[in-house]
Order: sequence, then structure tokens, then C-alpha cells
Amino acid sequence: MLDEERWPVRSVFFALVLFCAAASPVQAGSSSARAFSHVYRVLQHPRCKNCHPVGDRPLHGNDSHPHSFGVQRGADGRGLPDQRCARCHQDRNQPGVHKPPGAPQPARLKLPAGTTRWQLPHPKLPLTFEGRSPAQLCRQLLNAATNGGLSPEALIEHVEHDPLVLWAWDPGSGRTTPPGTHQEFADAVRVWIENGPACPAPECRGNSPRRPAGSGFRDGGLTPKKPRGRTTSRLAGVLRPPALAD
Ligand code: HEC
Ligand code: HEC
Repeated sequence: MLDEERWPVRSVFFALVLFCAAASPVQAGSSSARAFSHVYRVLQHPRCKNCHPVGDRPLHGNDSHPHSFGVQRGADGRGLPDQRCARCHQDRNQPGVHKPPGAPQPARLKLPAGTTRWQLPHPKLPLTFEGRSPAQLCRQLLNAATNGGLSPEALIEHVEHDPLVLWAWDPGSGRTTPPGTHQEFADAVRVWIENGPACPAPECRGNSPRRPAGSGFRDGGLTPKKPRGRTTSRLAGVLRPPALAD
């Protein structure tokens, strides 16, 4: 009797095991897969992760603690009305340790005067890197609904030229840089996409990382949201239109 009762539970368990086995790493060991592991290490570096947090607060320092002064993402990613990022962050790093970093505005964005490039992603599309496993982040980056409408080509272009990405290799006094050079990172993104893109297999039970507490989002924006009117077109203007048929 006991055995009969347990059977459904067991078959679900075996089905899971089979599913996990079947979903073994796509193209593991390929040049694309190797390139992605370098890309992942860069994305998880504090210089990148600190602006791609789970919650609504930018992070600081190599231990990625919450930004001081109660700074928050705000309604547009540029901070609360009395704590706008541009109040402290200019178009270049301020000299000295513990001084605000900064980055120039790319001409193509044509943002209003007085607005600097320094900001978090928009709350509707937070582009979270913190706490994401390689499998999760890989899919998030390749899906136009969760990457800000970027086609794979636009993603390459973004990591090659965006001032915020470039800033990570020139972050100002006292801050470390991500592994390798910027060029090596941009090349790795290109190899990952053009020779694949390979993505690690989705995690099976018990093997996914714990989600950091304090998320302002139910899942930190992992679930693809149907892009909506104004936000989408605003972001699309910033990020180039979607082109991923998926
Ligand atoms: C000062 C904050 C800041 C820093 C530092 C930063 N980013 Fe971003 N990142 C953003 C914002 C804001 C966006 C949203 C799109 C935009 O404004 O262009 C973004 C978008 C992205 C995107 C495209 C969207 C996606 O998730 O697919 C990628 C890729 C990206 N960043 C990678 C990086 C990498 C790699 C680094 C470090 C080398 C980095 N970012 C550092 C703020 C930052
Ligand atoms: C009141 C001034 C002030 C405001 C407002 C402010 N910042 Fe900062 N921020 C600083 C200072 C100062 C530092 C340097 C701290 C240090 O190095 O110890 C800093 C550092 C950072 C870093 C650290 C980078 C790193 O990798 O260690 C990030 C990211 C950041 N700010 C993002 C933002 C964002 C995004 C906003 C707006 C939503 C913002 N800040 C608003 C003063 C401010």
C-alpha cells in the first residue's frame, strides 16, 4: 500500500532526473561555451553587478553593499527626486578614493542637458545580474523581452561601446577592474554569440543559487514580461529595436 502511494511521487522524481539529464549543457566545451564562462565572470564582477542589482538600490564597493545615502533606483532609473544620480555622478570619475565615479553620455542617446549617463536600468526592465546563475543569465541576455529589446548584434555593439561598460575598466581610484581587458570581454561576447550562442543547461532542483533577499521584484525581472507601450519604445530608442525571433 505504501509503495503504491509513493509511486506517483517517485515517477515525478525520475521524470525530473531524466529531464535534467536530457538537458545536459548545450555545446559544452565548445568555443562558444568557453567564451560565455568568461562573459559570466565579468558580468558578476562588482563593477558590473553593482549597477545590475536584485533590488532597487545600487551597490557599492567590492563587497557589493547597498549604496549609502539611501540612494534608490527611482521611477526612471535615475534616482529619487531628491537623490538624482546626476547630483553626485558626473560625466567622468571625480579624482580621489571614495569619490563618485562617472561616465560620459554617448551622443546617440540625445538625453536632456544636465542628465548624465550614470543610472540604473529602468524599474520596468531591471536587467538583473546579481544572483543569476550562468544558465539564467545566459537566457536573460539572449531574450529580447528580458534584455531591453537587444538583438544579438545590438548586444555585441552595447558591450563594445557603451560608456558604462567601458567605465568598468577605468573605474577611478581604489576600485578593481573585471577579469581580463575590455577588448577580451567584447571578443568573448562576440565569440559566444557568433559561434553559438551556447547556454549552460537550466539548473535542476537543488542546484540553483539562492536569490538574495530584498528583491523589489517578485523574481528580479527574470520572467519575460510582455513589453508595454511607452516604456518599451523609450527603452527601444535607447537600446535599438528588438530583432530576436524567439
Ligand atoms: C552606472 C551603472 C552601470 C554600470 C556600472 C554597468 N551598467 Fe550595464 N546597464 C546599465 C543601464 C542603465 C542599462 C540599461 C540600458 C541602457 O541604459 O543602455 C544597462 C544595460 C546593460 C546591458 C544590456 C542589457 C542586458 O542586460 O542585456 C548589458 C549587456 C550590460 N549593461 C552589461 C554591463 C557590463 C558588462 C558592465 C560592466 C563591465 C556594466 N553593464 C556596467 C547600467 C550600468
Ligand atoms: C549624494 C551623492 C550620490 C548620489 C545621489 C548617488 N551616488 Fe552613487 N556614489 C556616490 C559616491 C560618493 C560614490 C563612491 C563611494 C565609494 O567609492 O566609497 C558612489 C558610488 C556609486 C557606485 C559604485 C560603483 C562601484 O562599483 O563601487 C554605483 C554603482 C553608484 N554610485 C550608482 C549610483 C546610482 C545608480 C545613483 C542614482 C540612482 C547614485 N549612485 C546616486 C554618491 C552618490
